[in-house]
This record gives sequence, C-alpha cells and structure tokens, in this order.
Amino acid sequence: MMQVKVWRGSAEGAFQQFEVPRHASQTVLDVVTHIQRMLDPTLAYRFACRVGMCGSCAMTVNGVARWTCRTHVDKVAQNDQMEIAPLRNLPVIRDLVTDMREFFNKWAKAKGQFSGSLTKNEDFQKVKPDSPGRVAVDAGIECIGCAVCYSSCDVVAARPDYLGPAALNRAWTLVQDERDAMSMERLRAVAGDAGCHSCHTHMSCTERCPKGISPTAGIAGLKREIARAVWRGTL
Ligand code: SF4
Ligand code: SF4
Ligand code: FES
Repeated sequence: MMQVKVWRGSAEGAFQQFEVPRHASQTVLDVVTHIQRMLDPTLAYRFACRVGMCGSCAMTVNGVARWTCRTHVDKVAQNDQMEIAPLRNLPVIRDLVTDMREFFNKWAKAKGQFSGSLTKNEDFQKVKPDSPGRVAVDAGIECIGCAVCYSSCDVVAARPDYLGPAALNRAWTLVQDERDAMSMERLRAVAGDAGCHSCHTHMSCTERCPKGISPTAGIAGLKREIARAVWRGTL
C-alpha cells in the first residue's frame, strides 16, 4: 500500500490522504484514476490519451511537474508516499484540474499559428530534410502542449504576462519554417518585455520537458534572430 496526498479545492484547499494499492508498472495517472474510481468519485483530474500524446495529464508530483501517464510510481514515490497537486503558474479550477486558457492564449499572442504564402492551386512547397531550418524545427516540433515547462518556469511565476517557454518554442519552430510568411510579425510579437528577453536561461523548462525539447535553445535562437533583424533594420 502507498500513502497518497492529493490536493482538494481550488486556490484555497488542502491535501487529502488516500491509501492506494501498489502494482508493478503503475503510473501516477493509474494512482489518481484508482482514487477517483474506487475511493472518491468527486476527485477532478484531466487525461485523455494515457500514452504521452495529448498533453492533458500533467500534474505536480512530489513538487515536480510531470506528465503523469508516463511517470512510473517507482521513479517518484518516496518511502511509499506521494504528494500530487495541480500544475503551478496556472489558476486551479478544482482539485488537479488547472485552467489552461492563459497558457494557450499566450501561444496566440506569440503568433503560434502557421501562415503560409501558397494557395491551394500551387504545388506543395518542398523543404529539404537536412536544411538547417528543418533540423531546427525537428528539435522543437514534438511539443504536446502539456505546460510542464510553463509550470516549472520561475519567470512565469514572477511576471504572469511572460509568454513562457512553450509559446516561445512554438514561435521559434515557425520562425525556422521556410514556408511561413509571417516571421517578422512573429519576431515583433516575441521581442517585447513579456517575450524572449525576459528569459533568465535557468533551464528548468528544458530539464523538465518530457519530450526532450529545449525551449531555452529556441528562446536563445529567437534572441539571435531579433538582434539580426534589428541590425538589418527590418525590425
Ligand atoms: S530557460 Fe527561460 S523559459 Fe525556460 S524555465 Fe528558465 S526562464 Fe523560463
Ligand atoms: S515544450 Fe515540452 S514541457 Fe513544454 S509544453 Fe511542450 S512538450 Fe510540454
Ligand atoms: S494522458 Fe495524454 S499525455 Fe498523458
């Protein structure tokens, strides 16, 4: 058996303790699901795919943000004890469910949508797999929008308007996409005080990202592109 403390309530609330049976290959999401199905059906939490694709199951486990469907209890439990809380840096709706609106609104503020220049009457634009831009895009494109990085970033905690590592990583992958036609507007959107220049390069996002992405590297790339554009007089 394992003793599990789970956050109950919203911003105001308290941890509630549950006793959960241990199993081989048990994930943290399995533990939360057991509590909700067997012990307290009023527990609110969020998940969808259970295989590390949808990004909806992230929580704070023993003080660290993690994707819970791919986090084994063996790796994180200490003396058969675990503390599970909602992600930090986001408003809590109830129990383990956070309000993700601000997180995704910041993707929009960073102009995180692709904007091509070709019409449907033209052929597909070809991108060479080994071109530098394509290689840079590959390094950041597998983001699942889990907000683990966002929740781990001290700058987001200190200044809530900061766009944060995920939105900036998304902007970086689009700036590197040679088919995209909105790079300058995007650089303008991330160049302000709430953008990439607020990053302190502390690397928490990169250390925590479950997909092995380095938003820190993308943010450094954006800073370089902005400096070049300013030097050229295009920004
Ligand atoms: S490197 Fe930048 S974006 Fe990443 S956690 Fe640190 S301050 Fe936040
Ligand atoms: S960059 Fe990594 S940690 Fe951040 S939202 Fe994307 S997948 Fe999650
Ligand atoms: S449930 Fe989809 S990533 Fe965990």
